[in-house]
Amino acid sequence: MDRYAVFGNPIGHSKSPFIHTQFAAALGEQLQYDAILAPLDGFADSWHSFVAAGGKGGNVTVPFKEAAYQLAELLSARAKQAGAVNTLYINSDGKLTGDNTDGIGLVADLTRLGINLNGITVLLLGAGGASRGAIGPLLDAGIKQLVLANRTVSKAQAIAAAFDQRVLACGYADIPAKSYQLVINATSAGLSGERPCIAAQHLQQCQLAYDMLYGAEPTAFMQWAKAAAVPQQADGLGMLLAQAAEAFYIWRGKRPDITPVLAVLKQQLSGN
Ligand code: ATR
Repeated sequence: MDRYAVFGNPIGHSKSPFIHTQFAAALGEQLQYDAILAPLDGFADSWHSFVAAGGKGGNVTVPFKEAAYQLAELLSARAKQAGAVNTLYINSDGKLTGDNTDGIGLVADLTRLGINLNGITVLLLGAGGASRGAIGPLLDAGIKQLVLANRTVSKAQAIAAAFDQRVLACGYADIPAKSYQLVINATSAGLSGERPCIAAQHLQQCQLAYDMLYGAEPTAFMQWAKAAAVPQQADGLGMLLAQAAEAFYIWRGKRPDITPVLAVLKQQLSGN
């Protein structure tokens, strides 16, 4: 049976084995998908052992996305743009190839939620890896402008410099007054129950407040957006599933429907 795995540290709580097993069952694909705990300084060794044992492809999560980028012999354009790899496979010439499906997963999830990205202005909060990987796919999806705001403004400026004039960098206190139809939180503030400190006026035209994090409860950012009367809030569970679906498509040539798996995971998270 073809083997796949997700590599991370820690990895115990990864939902990827469940997700890919569900996708495979729905599409009648025969495969095994495991979670592999790689040592912090041993991603490459771990990957090579997996391939020697017949591994066909992998997902890569924290903290190995940059190590996977270094290890890959070939990189997709979107992996290069993100500076990180979340999907690995051996191509038809036997070369280890790195791709990144996080950003297209986000775009797919926004589309699923009914957002038409064409021509809109987006406010993206945070300037870490999650944010960097999202910008190229959002621009490719046709957004007009992206304001990248971060607590540490120099990090936003460094990322914006890799893109064209559609991307503007700023700090939270000097976000330009524009009509933002979509506000995305790509910070890790929610992990400690916090939200980026931006003024509520930036939410005035917002149709969807999207947090890349997810959990049993709406994040602090989502709760704040709800209180500010933003019509729709969403967490990143759909993005998690959509990036997995794109990885599955790369490996198997079939694109899974995320909807039934999303319903099961939501139920699991809420403890029902
Ligand atoms: P990731 O790879 O998940 O994006 P990261 O590279 O560690 O993670 O980046 C974390 C992001 O969350 C950064 O933008 C960070 O802001 P700084 O660059 O100013 O550190 C942001 N962040 C974390 N905690 C935050 C908080 N409490 N308020 C606002 N931003 C926060």
